[in-house]
Amino acid sequence: MKKIGVLTSGGDSQGMNSAIRAVVRTGLARGFEVVGIRRGYNGLIEKDFTTLGSKDVGDILYRGGTFLQSARSEEFRTEEGQMKAVNNLKEAGIEYLVVIGGDGSYRGAAKLSEQGIKTYGLPGTIDNDIPLTEYTIGFDTTLNVVMEAIGNLRDTMSSHERVSVIEVMGRDSGDIALHAGIASGVDAILVPELPWDIKETSEKLRSGFSRGKTHSIVMVAEGVGKAENIAHLIKEYSGLDTRSTVLGHIQRGGTPSAFDRIFTSRMGHKVVELMEKDIYGVALGMEKNEITYHSFEDIFAGRETKKALNKKLYQVFEDLI
Ligand code: F6P
Repeated sequence: MKKIGVLTSGGDSQGMNSAIRAVVRTGLARGFEVVGIRRGYNGLIEKDFTTLGSKDVGDILYRGGTFLQSARSEEFRTEEGQMKAVNNLKEAGIEYLVVIGGDGSYRGAAKLSEQGIKTYGLPGTIDNDIPLTEYTIGFDTTLNVVMEAIGNLRDTMSSHERVSVIEVMGRDSGDIALHAGIASGVDAILVPELPWDIKETSEKLRSGFSRGKTHSIVMVAEGVGKAENIAHLIKEYSGLDTRSTVLGHIQRGGTPSAFDRIFTSRMGHKVVELMEKDIYGVALGMEKNEITYHSFEDIFAGRETKKALNKKLYQVFEDLI
């Protein structure tokens, strides 16, 4: 029986479990055997394998995190580590490997692909920073988590007539900040892809308060800098009482949204269909509501220029403030 291996790697994201479930159940339905690999690429190196039946993936659709666990493997970055992984896969008879993770995990998958393993990437990261897909796994859920947190902050900021500077995740990408910012009607969004001027922002906030606003919210993507420093500058330039909050890993947890559950179910289903068609060395995603796939080379080529921020969407934000 042909064997599929599945692992989750890098920072976890809500919907990874649902993706694993879809790979397992579709794989079994189409006559494959499915093996779960624990703790990302570390598990590949250490042969931490477990055969997965339909029941093993019961009750995980709605759970955040990844029941296979995840890691950022230092050893797998070495050629020696990669060779160990290839040998272990071959020894276990695993012909197809599904890697659910972000950019770093994709680079690992591409290395295995060069060694003759038929690999597939599913975009598992809340950052939404993978090229050639409009969404990544967990992004939508994270937006909902951030939206709720902003609601709580708005209540207390309003009572005290304060400015709230909120730092969200996104090392190189402003997507969480931009989307959650629009969804929450914030007053300023600072992202690493666009220039920003803290004096100008402070001035706008001050004039908002003089028009009678009782609070203001400034959204800062992690890649821009620390919320605490930005809050300090805003206080200095505007004279307004300012507080900072780092949402941190709270953003990576929680039950996946309906979108993330359906998106991952579709991708997990599609990846098995690609195996049946003997298509491999590709990463999946969603474009115009279709599940699409592209070679790892094309994904990395897109990455050279970074996934561009949606400028049109930023314009929407600016026109709605
Ligand atoms: O890769 C996703 C991400 O959420 C980044 O935005 C963030 O910088 C990073 O993970 C933090 O992850 P960890 O603390 O797990 O290393």
